Amino acid sequence: MSGDSSTGMGRGLAPRLMLAQVLVLGASVLTAGLVAAFVGPPLFHHHMLEAGHVPNTPELAHIEEAYRDSSFVSLGVALVFALVCAAAVTWYVTRRLQAPLGALAKAAREVSRGHLGARVGDFGSGVEFDELGRAFNLMAGQLEQTEETRRRLLSDLAHELRTPIATLTVYCEGLRDGVTTWNSDTERVMTEQTQRLARLAADLDDVSRAEEGRLSLERSATPVRDLIWSAWQAKREAFARQGVDLVADTDGAPDVDVDVDPRRLGQVLDNLLANALRHSHAGGSVHLSARTVDDTVEISVTDTGDGISAEQLPHVFDRFYRGDTARDRDRAGSGLGLTISRAIADAHQGSLVADSPGPGEGATFTVTLPAFTRLPH
Ligand SMILES: Nc1ncnc2c1ncn2[C@@H]1O[C@H](COP(=O)(O)OP(=O)(O)O)[C@@H](O)[C@H]1O
Ligand SMILES: [Mg+2]
Repeated sequence: MSGDSSTGMGRGLAPRLMLAQVLVLGASVLTAGLVAAFVGPPLFHHHMLEAGHVPNTPELAHIEEAYRDSSFVSLGVALVFALVCAAAVTWYVTRRLQAPLGALAKAAREVSRGHLGARVGDFGSGVEFDELGRAFNLMAGQLEQTEETRRRLLSDLAHELRTPIATLTVYCEGLRDGVTTWNSDTERVMTEQTQRLARLAADLDDVSRAEEGRLSLERSATPVRDLIWSAWQAKREAFARQGVDLVADTDGAPDVDVDVDPRRLGQVLDNLLANALRHSHAGGSVHLSARTVDDTVEISVTDTGDGISAEQLPHVFDRFYRGDTARDRDRAGSGLGLTISRAIADAHQGSLVADSPGPGEGATFTVTLPAFTRLPH
């Protein structure tokens, strides 16, 4: 724990500042004293002789003594006055420095106690202190943000675990007490819930790997066309069941390869298509297309569904983020799909971005990957 050693004038700034000034003063007075003792009198003597005074007279001795005395008296008075000034300056400067330093120390102690909202105001004690204050506030702000993310992550995780666990508990108790019987319905519910837990665990594993930069990739030169068509193949039935048209188009990127892990890229496209389907309505359509732009390949998934508002758009890639419409809440997604998808795109030195003209206007998700054109055989 921190004591209160920073407060009070004890052995702090003031005595040190005063000591430094006294040392400077001492050196100046010593120099002035030496000059007054050894340089001044001979010079004065010389001038007196030049002015016509006769040497070795009592009159001249008296004048010279008066000169020496007045020199030392003025030096003494100057010394006392300088000491008073040094004390005043020390007091003033210490006051000026103590306020911002005290405020910073207080705010730092607050932060160390977990009060991450602590900030310092503008000190008005010079640019350096204002700069220090701004740097402190920036640091505290970032700590607060990290802490907030951690807290939200834990509470989201607890929330995600609660529903399947509660459902499984109810079914287990029902089966044990004979209230529920084992039939295809029971089996379906229990399988669904255990799968949900398993998927959550797998997703969390992916997220943490991705964030530590250790997503394992088995990269190989893969034709973009193959990626698109296998994603289309895997999803077309689900789309047909919901009456949503799924259109794939690879004309924009004929014969282009990308150096990717096809399984991981498949996971990305699967998630983008599942999202698009979830947010589409019967009669709607989803376009899955690829095109080359300079030396990159853009794969985009465009739907004509719910769309995303401008406020939600920056958050769709956040961990556990799910749009808060009633439609989203009772879906099985964990809100980790886009987080993982973006991490996979990043791991391939690519990117994943979202765009939407607004609610009800559909959305487009675009994966950009570095391309290399297939060499002719
Ligand atoms: N095609 C889309 N149209 C509208 N909103 C979308 C679309 N894709 C994703 N979103 C929004 O982004 C959120 C996060 O998506 P995701 O990370 O895949 O999680 P999940 O699919 O589990 O909800 C979704 O809950 C939804 O609100
Ligand atoms: Mg999803």
